[in-house]
Amino acid sequence: HAQLRGVVALDGPSGTGKSTVSRRLASALGATYLDTGAMYRAATLAVLRAGADPSDEAEVRRIVSAARLVVGTDPGHPEVLLDGVDVGREIRGPQVTAAVSAVSAVAEVRRLLVGQQREVIRRALVSPGGIVVEGRDIGTAVAPEAGLKVYLTASARARAERRTAQDVSEGRAGNLDRTHQDVQRRDALDSGRAVSPLRMADDAVELDTTELDLPAVLEQLHKLVELRGLTD
Ligand code: DC
Repeated sequence: HAQLRGVVALDGPSGTGKSTVSRRLASALGATYLDTGAMYRAATLAVLRAGADPSDEAEVRRIVSAARLVVGTDPGHPEVLLDGVDVGREIRGPQVTAAVSAVSAVAEVRRLLVGQQREVIRRALVSPGGIVVEGRDIGTAVAPEAGLKVYLTASARARAERRTAQDVSEGRAGNLDRTHQDVQRRDALDSGRAVSPLRMADDAVELDTTELDLPAVLEQLHKLVELRGLTD
């Protein structure tokens, strides 16, 4: 069965189904998987645990440089360790979600994490098999050499609905209107920041998932991977 070669970059705002789609695609193609958002979230958790102000750049820089972040690359079990402890659940909570845009806007944080991300990609590519990398700036900054870049979009309302359903299914309280506002606020912050703002790479394929269910999105992605000749 098909085996991915090289890098597939999946970028786009939150709530487009990017994580689920990326993991499924990686599993189906015998590839590894990197969730760069989980790295910014774990860095944010380190800042919050230290009791620092997420907008204090010097403090944020100091804390994130000292934190030991490990992000697993198994699409079936993508674990995230902060100083040796699994924080996979905590990094999805509301405190981290509220502060992550501020932390991920700090240039030095991005420099550190992008360096780690490139190292994970480099290691993935020396072993047989490719890697699916998801984030905001994979196609534009982290892996501009990716063989396929996809930019997933969906209407803000559709994204808020998905996020709320995910919150409920994972045992958190769901609030559609608040989530809708949060989605719009984060879009503005992520697209408006000075360093690596969220934008589509010139050579990315845009895929609007507003009206597509998961199997339909996966079908499109498999077609693109095949068209680019990225499988053995
Ligand atoms: O994909 P996510 O919602 O887990 O991402 C969390 C935050 O991290 C999001 O607000 C933007 C930021 N992020 C980023 O700046 N660059 C990336 N490559 C991935 C995420």
